Amino acid sequence: MPTPAEIQFKDISLDTLADAAGGIVVFVGADGKLDQGARRINALSRKAVARCVASPAFEKMAEGDLVSLGYPSGLSAEAVCVVKLGRRPSVSAARKAGAQIAKAQGNADFVVLAGNIQRAEEIALGLALRGYSFDDHKTADPKPKGKVTFMVARPEAVAKAAGPLAAIAEGVFFTRDLVNEPANILTTDDFAARLAAMQELGLDVEILEEDDLKRLGMRTLLSVGQGSDSPSKVVVMSWKGGGDAAPFALVGKGVVFDTGGISLKPAGGMEEMTMDMGGAGVVAGVMRTLALRKAKANVVGLVGLVENMPSGGATRPGDVVRSMKGDTVEIINTDAEGRLVLADVLWYAQERFKPVGMINLATLTGAVITALGHENAGVFSNSDALCDRFLKAAAAEGEGAWRLPLAPAYDALLKSRIADMKNVGGRTAGAITAAQFLQRFVKEDVPWIHLDIAGTAAVKKETALAPAGATGWGVLALNRLIADNYEG
Ligand code: BES
Ligand code: MN
Ligand code: ZN
Repeated sequence: MPTPAEIQFKDISLDTLADAAGGIVVFVGADGKLDQGARRINALSRKAVARCVASPAFEKMAEGDLVSLGYPSGLSAEAVCVVKLGRRPSVSAARKAGAQIAKAQGNADFVVLAGNIQRAEEIALGLALRGYSFDDHKTADPKPKGKVTFMVARPEAVAKAAGPLAAIAEGVFFTRDLVNEPANILTTDDFAARLAAMQELGLDVEILEEDDLKRLGMRTLLSVGQGSDSPSKVVVMSWKGGGDAAPFALVGKGVVFDTGGISLKPAGGMEEMTMDMGGAGVVAGVMRTLALRKAKANVVGLVGLVENMPSGGATRPGDVVRSMKGDTVEIINTDAEGRLVLADVLWYAQERFKPVGMINLATLTGAVITALGHENAGVFSNSDALCDRFLKAAAAEGEGAWRLPLAPAYDALLKSRIADMKNVGGRTAGAITAAQFLQRFVKEDVPWIHLDIAGTAAVKKETALAPAGATGWGVLALNRLIADNYEG
């Protein structure tokens, strides 16, 4: 498993710079003033930094942008990177700067002359997040990642501030690894084992096996997994850092592979459905972060792990199944499986934990991608208060989230002739009818959000803080939601 880049915070030692290998990073604000470190690099490099800063190119750069000066004379380093960043950067500018450094770094060792710049720990977080790569299955060239040394005026203080942020990076990486992992490796068994291993961090982890799920009556969940040779499971992760308070619940769709079942998906792009456990992946990553930073909150994470396969035992279109709640569902399309999984896990979460609030995450519909693309997750909620808190947290973390409506008129599209509901609406408003389906399994007095992350969990192009592939979208926002509203 890839680990976050090795980042250290040390005292400023200018006399080591002439001989430093790899890269050296200096920060210069829009005012063009050079700090102590930049002045030393400027002197050693025969004023290369000052010429760069005086150039029209520097003028055009935005906050957080980087320009690399290759093989500077007077230095052993292969590159001096000039990053445009003021003394008091915003969180997003600091993270962007870090991401640019990660891209310039490759496998080289880097010295980052952060001096007394504020939010150096956020620069480090951006660097770590963008420096992630998933190469477990590449056999060639296992080059070690380079080390990064931040030289700062107050190393202890910065290292202390960086602690909880390292916990966030590890949570995001855990999510990305799970989402990137192919389905022949990340089976339901393997997924559950990776979650069970988090007991080392102080989480309680309980695995409900098929017999348990049958006893509990989770028939809609089981109906999705019954065509697969991999056993269906529900995993419950509890973090108890908040005394006796009722917990907040996070619920994730964990379809380790979605063929569509008997309503088989077309071949083109089907391999992408290895990310259909993205909701469960985010729940797992948040739980990891909460445990690593010893959050003072009670949070329970539940994931439904199943594989949606066609076989002689698979659910047929037209089958009617009774949910744990008791409502019956006519399964019109076996490819609308995520909502069948979530229906039972949502109900179970409420019955067992009586949560103060509940958020579910799921790569639920292609329709949400049609509506919002890959920039925003779809947000559906029965509570303006909780929803506003979440949107605020997502905005603060730079994770795109956009609220879409719920309303009885959409719910009416789920009427079935022979059962209490069918599992698909019509051709229109697919993301909303999916959300309406879920809402039928949410008690009215439980503040709830459904996040449809089909467009944001994994992307084909790199984003600000992630390479192409799994993004870990949601870990930062949910961690902040908990930190800002449910701790202390
Ligand atoms: N896992 C898919 C949704 C999805 C699509 C996720 C693209 C990520 C990228 C989900 O199970 C699904 O198949 N949804 C169907 C629902 C339809 C049958 C009502 C869809 O969106 O086509
Ligand atoms: Mn599906
Ligand atoms: Zn699916």
